[in-house]
Amino acid sequence: MAVQFDYVAKKGWKPKNPDEDYVITLLKVELDESAIKEAKKKGASEKDLFRDAAGTVAAESSTGTWTKVYDGKDSGIPLARAKRAMAYDLDYERKMFKIAYPLDLFELNNVSGLLAGIVGNIAGMKMVSAMRVYDVRFPKRMIAAFPGPAFGIDGVRKILKKPKQCLVCTVPKPKIGRTDTEQAKLARILFNSGNGTYDGIKDDENLLSLPFNKFEKRCKLVLQEARTAEKKTGNKKFYLCNTTHSNMNEMLRRAKMIKDNGGIFMMMDVVTTGFAAVDSVRRANTGLAIHAHRAMHGFITRDNSPGIHGKGKLYGFSISMIVLAKLFRLLGVDSLHGGSPLAKMEDYGEAIYIKDILQAKDLKPHDKIPSLGQKWWHIKPVWMTASGGLHPGDFETILNELGNDIIIQCGGGLLGHPQGIEAGVKAIEQARDAYYKGIPLKDFVRKNPNSELAAAVKLWGYGPRIVY
Ligand code: 3PG
Ligand code: MG
Repeated sequence: MAVQFDYVAKKGWKPKNPDEDYVITLLKVELDESAIKEAKKKGASEKDLFRDAAGTVAAESSTGTWTKVYDGKDSGIPLARAKRAMAYDLDYERKMFKIAYPLDLFELNNVSGLLAGIVGNIAGMKMVSAMRVYDVRFPKRMIAAFPGPAFGIDGVRKILKKPKQCLVCTVPKPKIGRTDTEQAKLARILFNSGNGTYDGIKDDENLLSLPFNKFEKRCKLVLQEARTAEKKTGNKKFYLCNTTHSNMNEMLRRAKMIKDNGGIFMMMDVVTTGFAAVDSVRRANTGLAIHAHRAMHGFITRDNSPGIHGKGKLYGFSISMIVLAKLFRLLGVDSLHGGSPLAKMEDYGEAIYIKDILQAKDLKPHDKIPSLGQKWWHIKPVWMTASGGLHPGDFETILNELGNDIIIQCGGGLLGHPQGIEAGVKAIEQARDAYYKGIPLKDFVRKNPNSELAAAVKLWGYGPRIVY
């Protein structure tokens, strides 16, 4: 309970100059049934309880606690009052509200500290049975405290000498099974088959340094294949080489090895390694672009309830992918795994907005998904990696929906081609090139019934393949 002073603003209150002086969050809560009963016994209404919940979230995440504390000399109470966060814009119908946090509550360049405040303790409140944090909006001075991506979209395009189109890459499947040497052989096929325009290969998230596929050997061999293929095909190649480790020093050692072997990108799993790791790796200036994979994010972001877009009941406690995507752009990844509008897992229709979060300069709030928008000032735009159950028949839709600044990753959608791996590469080249020539995919398939693309489409069709 927000007992020391009120943490709910008067109706109509808005923070002055929010982009200068406040961090803003947007949340929804579900009131606990027994808390409602309890409140009613005391003569309070559900509306009162919601107001109380909003105030409690603002108190607990800023300067307050559950009981009134000593407020005499040297107690800190005057500053606690002046710097307290305020819940405002309370929507009693949908149980949504915003919180404005004065910037003095935070160390400007510390994401771990910021999160310990704004989402630190609030999920434990007994009076709510569910809560979702939809969005956070950072002010200019906080943005200025971070470098953002070292390369971003343009920087990577320059290195790869690919000024316009999407990039394509493949995660080896089975995700674990090939030895380091076998993976390098696969890289050779991917890089050299078809017209030699296939761009990249990516490690799967759980492929690290295993007894039969060692990081060092794989890194050297695959990058060697990339260099050789570049000479042969005249096209730059990339390898999203997985450095993920719970020991930062080891991750940086792996990054150095990639750099020493002529690599362009390092991959790291940004949720499992954590915000401190992402910040530290970025600020270490390894000279590599960072590809961020998001394994485990579903345990934070997923909520299948009708309340997911603000309407209806919420079932669980979660923080949206919108929040995570903003944090990782701020911290400075150059590419982020952002699902896809056709992904194999439910992404709540957020994928297109996530692309906007990663790439817009002045992001507006979404008209359906609860959100706050964001001005990004000096922070560069980030590649969105579309991945998960994708295959050549999806290209037209994905490119229409997400634009060209994306990496399209097809694992099973290349390696599962009925005529083999080379045919898989050709099918993707055909789908991509037809799109950029303005040929509808279906026309291409009709006119080229014996093409590799036609065979892929025969197997997987044009729509999403929801497999699990
Ligand atoms: C990834 O890490 O991006 C996935 O393993 C995707 O694999 P898929 O393309 O076979 O769904
Ligand atoms: Mg994977």
